[in-house]
Amino acid sequence: MRTEPWESPHTPQEAEIVERLDESDTVFTLKLRFTDTARHDAYDFEPGQYNMLYLYGVGEVPISIVSDPEHDDLLDHTIRRVGRVTEGIAALRPGDRLGVRGPYGRGWPLRALEGKDVLVVTGGLGCAPSVSVIQYMMRRRARFGAVTILQGVKHYNDLLWRQRYEEWACVPRTRVLFSADVGGPIWPWHVGPVTGLFEHIEIDPQHTLALLCGPEGMMAATVKALRKRGLADSSIWLSLERSMHCAVGQCGHCQLGGKFVCKDGPVFRHDEIEPLFSVKGL
Ligand SMILES: Cc1cc2nc3c(=O)[nH]c(=O)nc-3n(C[C@H](O)[C@H](O)[C@H](O)COP(=O)(O)OP(=O)(O)OC[C@H]3O[C@@H](n4cnc5c(N)ncnc54)[C@H](O)[C@@H]3O)c2cc1C
Ligand code: FES
Repeated sequence: MRTEPWESPHTPQEAEIVERLDESDTVFTLKLRFTDTARHDAYDFEPGQYNMLYLYGVGEVPISIVSDPEHDDLLDHTIRRVGRVTEGIAALRPGDRLGVRGPYGRGWPLRALEGKDVLVVTGGLGCAPSVSVIQYMMRRRARFGAVTILQGVKHYNDLLWRQRYEEWACVPRTRVLFSADVGGPIWPWHVGPVTGLFEHIEIDPQHTLALLCGPEGMMAATVKALRKRGLADSSIWLSLERSMHCAVGQCGHCQLGGKFVCKDGPVFRHDEIEPLFSVKGL
């Protein structure tokens, strides 16, 4: 009798690039489909989870999934070119293939968000993990209270997905506000840190959950501002980034105290990581 070779669920699976969109000089989106149709149809994920993308012969990187799990057929990943693997992936074109394993990690607390006001605060490309959950809420709008999206960027040229934000701003009971550390002649919004936008919004601390993603300094400042507005640590959720290798809690690369960002996160409730969050070197 012939035995089929054992295949780990963590073996990268081949996926084809169906479409590639340039979002800016350094940021691009890949729309992927598994070449095995049955695998593609069976694949499921939650907003806030990520895949490990494997550039054959070069290496793997964790990248958030930005599609809507129930509405989009293709798996979208928005990637900034920063180093060896992401530079290599940036050179791929439609029809090229890469390996994908996942989805991994814990996503946003969708159930807890239902019926609540939701404040999303994001910085830079940190918005990638939040795009999927915002899209999720917009498509199921009646299930959520007021949704406020605060998007901060370093430079006014860094704002991605302007059209998408403009569409969200037109959805009832949804506000979208922008800030840039460096404004410019065509920047009509706030100039300064994203926390400066708090002056322009109302927060009901008993009825609001906050979702943060972006650089840790920006998230730490936002947590401080939210606490001042009366939000409990248990109402604040953050998406963290760490160097990752295995993605399944075995190699220790992403360890944060007793937690593994790869599998216990990347989304954490602030009180779960409070003493260690934003401590330099951890
Ligand atoms: C859970 C999770 C989700 C992520 N989602 C996304 C996503 O949706 N889109 C995306 O573009 N990236 C995302 N990242 C970051 C991405 O994984 C890294 O940018 C990538 O691993 C860098 O690999 P590289 O080989 O290209 O660069 P490397 O060769 O590893 O690094 C090159 C240089 O870039 C710096 N660098 C590495 N990572 C980052 C970073 N995150 N930001 C800025 N500089 C960095 C390094 O310090 C180094 O100086 C995510 C990370 C995690 C942990
Ligand atoms: S990436 Fe290996 S333990 Fe988290």
